[in-house]
Amino acid sequence: MSEAFDVIVIGAGPGGYVCAIRAAQLGMKVACVEKRETLGGTCLNVGCIPSKALLQSSEHYEEALHKLADHGVTVGSVKLDLARMLARKGEVVGANVKGVEFLFRKNKVTWLKGEGSITAPGTVSVAGKDYTAKHIVIASGSESIPLPGVEVDEKQIVTSTGGLELTSVPKHLVVIGGGYIGLELGSVWRRLGAEVTVVEFLDRLVPSMDLEVGKAFERILAKQGIKTKLKTKVMGATKSKKGVTLKLEPAAGGAAEELTADVVLVAIGRRPFVAGLGLDKVGVALDERGRIKVDGHYATNVPGIYALGDVIAGPMLAHKAEEEGVALAEILAGQKPHLNYGAIPGVVYTWPEVASVGETEEQLKARGVAYKIGKFPFTANGRARAMGDMDGFVKILADKATDKVLGAHIIGPDAGTLIAELVLAMEFGASAEDVARTCHAHPSLNEAVKEAALAVDGRALHI
Ligand code: FAD
Ligand code: NAI
Repeated sequence: MSEAFDVIVIGAGPGGYVCAIRAAQLGMKVACVEKRETLGGTCLNVGCIPSKALLQSSEHYEEALHKLADHGVTVGSVKLDLARMLARKGEVVGANVKGVEFLFRKNKVTWLKGEGSITAPGTVSVAGKDYTAKHIVIASGSESIPLPGVEVDEKQIVTSTGGLELTSVPKHLVVIGGGYIGLELGSVWRRLGAEVTVVEFLDRLVPSMDLEVGKAFERILAKQGIKTKLKTKVMGATKSKKGVTLKLEPAAGGAAEELTADVVLVAIGRRPFVAGLGLDKVGVALDERGRIKVDGHYATNVPGIYALGDVIAGPMLAHKAEEEGVALAEILAGQKPHLNYGAIPGVVYTWPEVASVGETEEQLKARGVAYKIGKFPFTANGRARAMGDMDGFVKILADKATDKVLGAHIIGPDAGTLIAELVLAMEFGASAEDVARTCHAHPSLNEAVKEAALAVDGRALHI
């Protein structure tokens, strides 16, 4: 007889493994199917964690090369040991994925190793064996979108996975796509010595970002040496032993040009991954962009089958997937959780970091909402000056009538940490004045958040 579970989760990324753990905490008998050798999904294995390890290491290298001298710290000759840097990244990933295995054991979640396929509602087949469950949760994640004519070989033409594994620093790295991955990995290899050119189809980098912040970001990246070719499309790539030649054309049409690179990183977005799940067999419906369609409770059109994370609509972010995992487990346990999609932060972990939550100025304008702006630059923040990291500013958007915080956008040192205060403010429905009247430690970068909140009412103190 097949083994029976309350919940079988397919995919052990941040959405799936968190859902499995939370369901087990709530007393359900849970299995999680994962075909990778290790748990943790894209995020822990080839995404968030390895990229942040390399961002950290390359930042240290750049500091040693260019920043420490200004602090009166003289180091001898600074050398890059790329093999060690990559090995350390592997160690960081290894510790994290083992951590998830430990959490599975602790919470008595069974790891079913192999590819999971739904053979009938309530039945999942893994490695030739059938398992049954009252609830099946699909958390199969996403994969890189391929670019026709630019064949990925993960050596000369790479996705983020190959881009995290380059064994030598390319002389010229061309990044196709000026989004999260392109700018984070572009920054890593630029710091390690590569010339980096970002080719972006639209007229701006990270198009989802508040325009003013996006423009400041572009200027700062340019100052760091990252070249950008906006409004440009890549028509094809030719590989030779020496490198790759890309054929570029202006997005609006016009004369073509060539660009040569040692390595090309294709980072034009990710798409939901549903292959091999048997969705056709059970009739799970997808939307026009290939995402699994769910209702407000993560239920698909097939009773007993749910989906969450990158494979459904919404930002493709690990913390969004995790929150959905918790929410769904609680729904399955009969609770009534609520996830506020208006307060999910996004962070680009470059230096400076760029972080945002809520609506951009352009979105508020498009909705016809009357708003006030409070802005404060890090040049006027004592801590930023002491650190020597004064690029950027905090921008808070508040409702003109009620003063409620509608959005916040930060470019600057540790923006990804600073944004948490404003996420909490939005979650609590706080006003800019609430943030402004909160006592902030001195000297801290957070004081720039307080000052921006004061500036919403035209009463910033230090500018
Ligand atoms: P995934 O993490 O993709 O996990 C899905 C898992 O399901 C995979 O392990 C896959 O092997 C498994 N699977 C699929 N089908 C089956 C099957 N049939 N049977 C068994 N197993 C199956 N997000 C952030 O929030 N912050 C970051 O800093 C960040 N950095 C990133 C950097 C890079 C380079 C990349 C590529 C992504 C990054 N992301 C980041 C995005 C983040 O990784 C994803 O949003 C997140 O992993 C989505 O979680 P998930 O659980 O939905 O899916
Ligand atoms: P992205 O959506 O962030 O950026 C893709 C960029 O490529 C966009 O600017 C888009 O306009 C551009 N583009 C699309 N087609 C193009 C073409 N043919 N030629 C040139 N440019 C083109 O996607 P990315 O960077 O691949 O990352 C995928 C997702 O992974 C992100 O959207 C994000 O959800 C997640 N991620 C999150 C990170 C974080 O939270 N720090 C880090 C890395 C990834």
